[in-house]
Amino acid sequence: MAKITLGQKLPTIGLPVVLVGAKVLGRPNFCPIAWATIIDDEPAKMAVVMAKKRKTKDGIVENGTFSINLPGANSVAATDYCGLHSGYKDDKSGVFDVFFGKTLTAPMARECPINIELTLDDIIEFEGTDMVVGDVEEVYIDEEKMTDGRPDIEKLELLMYLNPGGPYFLKGQTVAEAFKVGREYRPK
Ligand SMILES: Cc1cc2nc3c(=O)[nH]c(=O)nc-3n(C[C@H](O)[C@H](O)[C@H](O)COP(=O)(O)O)c2cc1C
Repeated sequence: MAKITLGQKLPTIGLPVVLVGAKVLGRPNFCPIAWATIIDDEPAKMAVVMAKKRKTKDGIVENGTFSINLPGANSVAATDYCGLHSGYKDDKSGVFDVFFGKTLTAPMARECPINIELTLDDIIEFEGTDMVVGDVEEVYIDEEKMTDGRPDIEKLELLMYLNPGGPYFLKGQTVAEAFKVGREYRPK
């Protein structure tokens, strides 16, 4: 098949959208982030990529803690609201029902079925963005979203986002089982 080039313009990529939470000057603040990743699983380490000016990042630096909350479809409007309104202008402390865990300073949104509590490990600076790296201290999940002792992706209905510009969507069709479908494959 013929290829055309798009230059250095990033193509459309489907990504999970997370809500990063931090306490800023005593008030919980949340912002949606699509540029998020797992760095390691044992010990668990994650990172979010943020523009230079994000009120949420100020809180991460202030307290050395933050949260990564995975919103479900029922929180789509609240999630988008947090992306449209910066904490520099608007108080977002009442958007979610907030709870705290073992770090005591990382606000988590009860409405999100999964909440990950982290301590700040490092901030890696790039030209236009900063990568905020955190060590996972605890993971919280709604009991009803579990099936046979495991998180149930169908019940979780976690929000995805088509980068850039949207829309939000949910997990699509399952194509094959990872780490299994390749077992019988033989390269040409
Ligand atoms: C779906 C969505 C994804 C976003 N992803 C990112 C991201 O990956 N990095 C980033 O810095 N900002 C991202 N934003 C923008 C911030 O969420 C937005 O600027 C927010 O208002 C910042 O809030 P704060 O200043 O209170 O921290 C995203 C916004 C939306 C709606």
